[in-house]
Amino acid sequence: MGTDIGMSEPSPRSSLQFDGDEMREFGYHVIDTLVDYYASRAERPVAEKLDYGALDEILHEPMPREGSPWRDVLEQFERQVVDSTNHVDHPRFFAYIPLANNFVSVMADSLAAGYNIFNAVWLQGPGAAQIERLTVGWLRQIFGFPPESGGTFVSGGSVANLTALAVARHIQLGDDMQGAVAYCSDQIHFAISRGLRVLGFAPEQLRKIPSDENFRLSLPMLKEAIAADRGLGRRPFCVVATAGTTNTGAVDPLNALADLCQQENLWLHVDGAYGAPAMLTEKGKGALTGLERADSLALDAHKWLFQPIECGVVLVRERRWLAETFKEQPEYLKDVEQASEEINFMYQGIQLTRQFRALKLWMSFKVFGLDAISDAIAVGFENAELAERLLRQAGCWEIVTPAQMAIVTFRYKPANGDERLANRVTHDLVGRLLEDGYAFASGTQLREKTVMRICSNNPRTTPDDVKGTIARMGQLAVELEAGCVDMPTSD
Ligand SMILES: Cc1ncc(COP(=O)(O)O)c(C=O)c1O
Repeated sequence: MGTDIGMSEPSPRSSLQFDGDEMREFGYHVIDTLVDYYASRAERPVAEKLDYGALDEILHEPMPREGSPWRDVLEQFERQVVDSTNHVDHPRFFAYIPLANNFVSVMADSLAAGYNIFNAVWLQGPGAAQIERLTVGWLRQIFGFPPESGGTFVSGGSVANLTALAVARHIQLGDDMQGAVAYCSDQIHFAISRGLRVLGFAPEQLRKIPSDENFRLSLPMLKEAIAADRGLGRRPFCVVATAGTTNTGAVDPLNALADLCQQENLWLHVDGAYGAPAMLTEKGKGALTGLERADSLALDAHKWLFQPIECGVVLVRERRWLAETFKEQPEYLKDVEQASEEINFMYQGIQLTRQFRALKLWMSFKVFGLDAISDAIAVGFENAELAERLLRQAGCWEIVTPAQMAIVTFRYKPANGDERLANRVTHDLVGRLLEDGYAFASGTQLREKTVMRICSNNPRTTPDDVKGTIARMGQLAVELEAGCVDMPTSD
């Protein structure tokens, strides 16, 4: 038929298609590879050795004119990408914020990509829009937000914070940024300062208040700063609290901040990117009281809700604020206008064409159930508490901040009590652990102390993983201390 109008049928090559058998073979191969990886993950090194020689091919690869067999390309991916990757989902990866995903959500991501679901316009897929709305509704219940609240899925914590701050700017300031000031503690994640900069605020429009002795936002200093700014004719508009800081897991005093924001007519935004899911446990609920009073909340389901990377959520106290902030009405989208019970997610944030990210969280809630997910979160608390106990017992560590929200920070304690040596050994230990490959924990700076952090939110981490890691760190630290014999002492 095609030849009647002078055109031939597209070849499989130009239509970028595989036949059914080939697709199955390719797909099963990928699944087999992943299942083998999951089965062997705990025996692999946490951090693979970076071999620049092996990377050479992709560092300098010319653009391919001709295709290659998919097996060859997958093999190259395994060798050059997987083999040079630090496994953030490894049970002994305790650095930064570990990212432990789950297989159900991995499959959900494949389905969302495979069906290429466009989750932006109700009319194009009411089922997908409804699942996103339903999943946001479940999150609203978890965090105690009122029925009129709403939210949307975004790529991660940074964009969730940015989206919330854009709403705060619109609703609280009417988009007039002149003289406006936001407040946070010095323990804030850089997503906040970057987000405000992207929105057009000058760096001096964010006041970083020194944190208290527990690394929490200091209320008296915050009050002073607000009063001083008002005295100078500036316009305080927003307080950003953190529910689980990246450094120490500290939770700012949310209830007191909510009271203050009410008295001062300020927006309360909570960065719960890391810690908010702890609300599903008894311990977390206690630590997070007041979270339910926030005007907006950012969370990252790819952190402590075990989703594959790129699953952030922003919640706002009044659903209408999202559309008020983000709605545009181009002519070519007029016919998607709908009844009020329908929701067009393209107007709830800054993306038009957007992935169906809610599917993975919805599917994992459905398959595992909330109780299993709560138990998985609780494992993180238990492992951090175990780590703290073992560190104390070992006698060669100083606990700098106790286990909170599955994070404990500590520093090597040399027998001679030398501060510089303590900092030096602790600093060098991060690199030694990476080389060693058994486990990985990262470092940070807490005032004058160089510390290490264990963040234990991976539910597949066993008590033996924790014990083995602390024992290994102890051995390596002693070796490092012995190597520092010539170092001048502090005084
Ligand atoms: C407290 C906090 N906020 C924001 C972010 C940024 O989130 P994302 O990396 O998903 O953009 C992080 C990331 O670690 C975080 O810990």
